[in-house]
Amino acid sequence: MKIFFRVIVFSVLTIVLYMLFATQYIPPINPAPPPKEEALNLGAMTMPQFIALGEKIFNGKGTCTLCHNPVVKRAPLLESVAVRANERLKDPRYKGKAKNPADYIEESMREPSAYVVAGFGVTGTNDTVSPMPVITAGAIGLNDVEVKAVVAYLLQLGGAEIPFEVPRGQPVAEKKEGQAAAPAKTGAEVVKKYGCGGCHKIAGEAGAIGPDLTKIGAKRNVEYLRRAVLDPDADIAQGFPGGMMPKDFGDKMTAGEFKLLVEFLAKSK
Ligand code: HEC
Ligand code: HEC
Repeated sequence: MKIFFRVIVFSVLTIVLYMLFATQYIPPINPAPPPKEEALNLGAMTMPQFIALGEKIFNGKGTCTLCHNPVVKRAPLLESVAVRANERLKDPRYKGKAKNPADYIEESMREPSAYVVAGFGVTGTNDTVSPMPVITAGAIGLNDVEVKAVVAYLLQLGGAEIPFEVPRGQPVAEKKEGQAAAPAKTGAEVVKKYGCGGCHKIAGEAGAIGPDLTKIGAKRNVEYLRRAVLDPDADIAQGFPGGMMPKDFGDKMTAGEFKLLVEFLAKSK
């Protein structure tokens, strides 16, 4: 019995020592997997949590801060848009249907040209066409719940009342990153899918934040074009802000899409 007891104590000690050693000295073999986008559990969400979600989308997936930030000055700052909204709605240039700040902000995201802030329109359109991409389409593609969360965030940022509840019971058709849609089949489709037209004049779209790409193939070689899409800060086109073009197209596109895109750009002469 005594021997049996000793064996047990010895085994337990060995295991404990081994565990200590393992946690202390052996580095983990598998690095933590990249964080998955957490599923939206709206059922249990409070308004403050919904607002926090909106802030996260605003700074991340929504790509809003690419343009709306104090450094590049390519778009108005949005800290007090909830307050300004009332003046926008009274402006004779306003062409939308919104009746309150919440609807104005939502409309700005879905139909950017319903009101174009003076001085920020696409050059040559006399502030009738907005360079801002439609946030619910293309590569950004926010769903209805995500749009509402961003609206709630901007309302609270401006100290305005939030005239709606957390949209519980609404279907959240979660789009998984990267598998948003079937792979594009032509270069022009790639341009549409990834929202290049939000910033560039290309494939019938009229973005005005980055350089006009309609004749880019005459100006730049294939090597340059590949690098310009994968590593936008490697060369900064003269007269344009660096650090603005998204740097993750290489992770998001399929290899086939990337090839089609570069061929399309090279052929644009
Ligand atoms: C590619 C650049 C770009 C991106 C990305 C962008 N915006 Fe804009 N946005 C603009 C520009 C330029 C304007 C001013 C022209 C106009 O009124 O449409 C604007 C205007 C607005 C306005 C109206 C501002 C006002 O003072 O009336 C709101 C609200 C807005 N954006 C919200 C957003 C949100 C939310 C996102 C992210 C989900 C976003 N924007 C992403 C460029 C952008
Ligand atoms: C949020 C705005 C934005 C989006 C979206 C964007 N770009 Fe750009 N892009 C820019 C800016 C600004 C520049 C100029 C600064 C630089 O060279 O990085 C640029 C530069 C480029 C250049 C180099 C042009 C030259 O003459 O050197 C190419 C090519 C290009 N973009 C292609 C694309 C393609 C293709 C897409 C879509 C897959 C895209 N861009 C999406 C803003 C954007």
